[in-house]
Amino acid sequence: MDHFALKDGVMHAEDVPLPRIAEEVGTPVYVYSRATLERHAQVFRDGLAGVPDKLIAFAVKSNPNLAVLKVLQRQGYGADVVSVGEMRRALAAGMAPDKIVFSGVGKTRREIAEALEAGIGQFNIESEEEGLELAELAAEMGVTAQCALRINPDVDAGTHDKISTGKADNKFGVPIDQAGQIFGLLASKPSVNLRGVAVHIGSQLGDLAPLERAFTKLGGLVTSLRGAGHAITHVDLGGGLGVPYKAGEHPPSPSEYGEMVARVTKDWGVTLIFEPGRVIAGNAGVLLTRVVRIKRGLNNPFVIVDAAMNDLARPALYGAYHDFVAVGPNGAKMTANIVGPICETGDTFAMGRDCDRLESGDLAVFRTAGAYGATMASSYNSRGFVAEVLVDGDKFAVVADRIEAGAIMDAERVPEWLA
Ligand code: LLP
Repeated sequence: MDHFALKDGVMHAEDVPLPRIAEEVGTPVYVYSRATLERHAQVFRDGLAGVPDKLIAFAVKSNPNLAVLKVLQRQGYGADVVSVGEMRRALAAGMAPDKIVFSGVGKTRREIAEALEAGIGQFNIESEEEGLELAELAAEMGVTAQCALRINPDVDAGTHDKISTGKADNKFGVPIDQAGQIFGLLASKPSVNLRGVAVHIGSQLGDLAPLERAFTKLGGLVTSLRGAGHAITHVDLGGGLGVPYKAGEHPPSPSEYGEMVARVTKDWGVTLIFEPGRVIAGNAGVLLTRVVRIKRGLNNPFVIVDAAMNDLARPALYGAYHDFVAVGPNGAKMTANIVGPICETGDTFAMGRDCDRLESGDLAVFRTAGAYGATMASSYNSRGFVAEVLVDGDKFAVVADRIEAGAIMDAERVPEWLA
């Protein structure tokens, strides 16, 4: 459930009519709903009611906006980060260092040092090589690093290839059949408190079965690590729960997910860590755009909007579906190709889509754009970065300024020897 709905024939975000935002902030613009973010945060936590001891760490990569992080911090959420850039955001939003988990295969020495200095809650070590480097750095700094070893369980998540992370040939984690030996080696380092294991098999999962398979394998590993004398107190189950992008899609609900987790992990006796991203932020945001013009096409007209693949990359990158609806629908329908202004054919949001009839100058939204939307933007074609707005009841605030293409150009120089 979200808070983007028609009221008196005009789409609102909570109690704010979207045309007002378009007028005051311009388009394209991402619009987030605080009530929706909070609702999703609560529903996810409620779904895990059967899990006594847990930390929910929002996957910052899905929506790193400071105001969004603040909403989640106020819900008691921590953060799953994959760079010091994200770590700094989580800290700036007031998240406690010990609620921050640092994942990622390419943490640099400088990033590891900064995270050690900040005293973050857990490093998810993705390789033996990284673990040794981390142990060395922590020893040099005279600190103990709280760590888990990320396991690659060799489970096919059954999602898009580009967002699968748990198959044996993916770059993430250590192979489960080598985990015992690598765990033993890293746990022997006095500067490392290797307290558990972590897994994340992929994103936008529409089925619990692969997750259950991965968690069950992880449970077996916990037993054998304990058998080898290791104290396992934390297990990080990652994120990945899918959301509905179109009518008729029914990914598992947080409560179905929570029931499965509680059942599979009931005897583990650990603190469980969760890293949800999309399920919290996805349906809490839309990308508001204006129709530049309608162009005749061979089969269908092209609805050319002022948002493009640089603003919302998912359709171009993964062939992803985003619902596209008019802000002021009049009941008429059309079949159209929805495209942006960028000079490549990949800048296509949808071909032959049945949608509301739109005219030049009309406003429309791409729905379910709150996760992996603004965060994946680029400035391709010398377009700027779009603004972001957070709505709260009948008020709204710009929570990220539009960065004009000119500001990006201002950061560039022509060297003297070329002038
Ligand atoms: N934890 C780890 C270690 C991750 O790599 C990810 C996402 C998450 C948690 C959060 O997963 P979620 O709950 O959001 O599924 N750009 C792609 C999605 C990439 C996901 C990357 N990792 C997209 O637009 O679909």
